[in-house]
Amino acid sequence: MQLSDKKATLSFSDGSAPIEFPVYKGTVGPDVIDIRKLYGQTDMFTYDPGFLSTAACESGITYIDGDKGELLYRGYPIDQLAQSCDFLDICYLILNGELPDGNQKQEFDSLVTNHTMVHEQLRIFLQGFRRDAHPMAVLTGLVGALSAFYHDSTDITNPHHRHVSAIRLIAKMPTLVAMAYKHSQGQPFIYPKNDLSYTGNFLRMMFATPCEDYKVNEVVERALDRIFILHADHEQNASTSTVRLCGSSGTNPFAAIAAGVACLWGPAHGGANEACLQMLEELQANGGIEKVGEFMEKVKDKNSGVRLMGFGHRVYKNYDPRAKLMQETCKEVLAALGLENDPLFKLAMELERIALEDPYFVQRKLYPNVDFYSGIVQRAIGIPTSLFTAIFALARTVGWIAQWNEMLSDPDYKIGRPRQLYTGQQSREVPSKR
Ligand code: CMC
Repeated sequence: MQLSDKKATLSFSDGSAPIEFPVYKGTVGPDVIDIRKLYGQTDMFTYDPGFLSTAACESGITYIDGDKGELLYRGYPIDQLAQSCDFLDICYLILNGELPDGNQKQEFDSLVTNHTMVHEQLRIFLQGFRRDAHPMAVLTGLVGALSAFYHDSTDITNPHHRHVSAIRLIAKMPTLVAMAYKHSQGQPFIYPKNDLSYTGNFLRMMFATPCEDYKVNEVVERALDRIFILHADHEQNASTSTVRLCGSSGTNPFAAIAAGVACLWGPAHGGANEACLQMLEELQANGGIEKVGEFMEKVKDKNSGVRLMGFGHRVYKNYDPRAKLMQETCKEVLAALGLENDPLFKLAMELERIALEDPYFVQRKLYPNVDFYSGIVQRAIGIPTSLFTAIFALARTVGWIAQWNEMLSDPDYKIGRPRQLYTGQQSREVPSKR
């Protein structure tokens, strides 16, 4: 952090002395006012529910410029990365800060590949879940359970343990997601096959059966790999902040990532892609394109409780750059699979067209986010809607673990402990006769 020449002064209307706070500069983006000493000096807290104006940490991993619609991983624009890298390049970059050279790439790929299997007893653990359990419920359980199987990498003070845990999590997530899927289908689990790519291996674990192997379609593989790349990290979003807060207590990485998976599940976060596809399917079933105008009126009516899922973002006040890339991938996949006339894609394009011209959306700066098109791609690939958020969790694992590691590597890190404005009862006596 670099100290700025500027200082912030807080003054009070009751005549008490003003207080100065240091200001720090980042490489790009807003400066921060360091208010760590505020409470000690004033006996007051700041109040910022939803963290609208609060930076909770310093980070060098991902940068978003919401007004420009820009997303950088370690300084590289997402569109350039999506054009020229595969997901494991991105994992290496996010974890280590630089893109791998040829040898580093080979070593990293083989390291991840060698950790794809999970402890055999996890299969028995899986049997305890109902077949109709939501895959995110199963995944939260399975990821948390990893801490019961991999004790040898849970010393969080040891950088080597942290590295091994990171590799294990990245390598095993596809296996766990595929296990959750196979369990829901009542099909036998397919073991990883290490001569396939990270994404090809995942597709095979999802769609092969013991009686019929699965030939990986390159367009599908590339599309899913791009989905992974676009979801790999996204700064201090709700699930990443959850991982940091949970990890700040010193808990093991598997427990911290399980907390992130649980947070991601919500429809305002990772669950939005599932909710978005359900919205499109319902709209299609209830009249399709003809009814788009009527539906948009409902979206704009605050009393209807209906939102245009896949639209809007806390940080992006411009087109989400991931949505642009996802729309491109969507067209590619639909063409490759002969689904160019997919009605849901047409519906999505029409909703987007109307929204981008409608003053309600324009004034509020609501643009499509990554989830608007990712559901259509996943559906075309054959991934069931209920698994969409699990795919997101698989991809976001590298971001979570890198952010967790960054926090623990900082010698100044402390357990996270927000404060509150208490508005409950004052201290009172319990009535003697109850
Ligand atoms: N449809 C209709 N109106 C909306 C929408 C929407 N999708 N999103 C925001 N608004 C309105 C909202 O009603 C409010 O209007 P007003 O100022 O008149 O009260 C205004 O826009 C600001 O909305 P907000 O809820 O205060 O904004 P937020 O920053 O708290 O919420 C959001 C961001 C993503 C939760 C929200 O836009 C939303 O619910 N979107 C739909 C769900 C979704 O697609 N989520 C995925 C986010 S991207 C994936 C990820 O990173 O996890």
